[in-house]
Amino acid sequence: MRFDIVTLFPAIFEGYMTQGLLGKAIQRELVQIHQHDLRDWAPQTTHKPVDDKPFGGGPGMLIQVEPTVNCVEAVEKKADQSARRILLTPQGKRFDQRMAEDFATSGRLMLLCGRYEGFDQRVTDILEPEEVSIGDFVLNGGEVAAMVIVDAVVRLLPGVLGDENSSIDDSFSRGNRLLEFPQYTRPREFRGHAVPDVLTSGDHKAIAAWREQQSLQRTKQRRSDLLRDE
Ligand code: ADE
Repeated sequence: MRFDIVTLFPAIFEGYMTQGLLGKAIQRELVQIHQHDLRDWAPQTTHKPVDDKPFGGGPGMLIQVEPTVNCVEAVEKKADQSARRILLTPQGKRFDQRMAEDFATSGRLMLLCGRYEGFDQRVTDILEPEEVSIGDFVLNGGEVAAMVIVDAVVRLLPGVLGDENSSIDDSFSRGNRLLEFPQYTRPREFRGHAVPDVLTSGDHKAIAAWREQQSLQRTKQRRSDLLRDE
């Protein structure tokens, strides 16, 4: 799967792409990530501004339509393939596991990261991206949101997780609307806190029943909305 990330701060992604599962997935060529610096498409070549004041007044600056549209079109043309375009904004549709599963089947995603007060509206009018938010809070820019999406999508791609780390049991994964049950590893006891006996009983049926009951209890206590949603 290929991700193209359009940003004013491409360096933000560098360390992130070499670490952990994502680093391995890139090394194994299961995933490609390309960052594109919007400034490379700035109309002026001296200071390379890509932002300007909003017409009608108001605080802050907007990212201009010209470099953004030119960048996206040039990147798609070079790859000879159009991408599913995603624009990160707090005004977008809320990202969730279902959306991650859908994105994971797309083959190619173009992620547009806003900064300042966001993009000129004509970016949306012309490029018609899907607008996506990672939650009801405001970040300094879309880069962290783009990393969240890449992270959640990559772990769903075939071959990225080993069998032993399958994403099927994840909270929120397809058909699973319960939170995960608690897990324990060695030692069996620490400062008077013991591992529940059932987990060391060897009784697999009892263990499965205990885990299911714990998942249900956790979900009721912490996220009862998940039990009500369709
Ligand atoms: N940019 C700023 N805040 C954001 C959010 N909550 N989700 C996606 N992109 C953003």
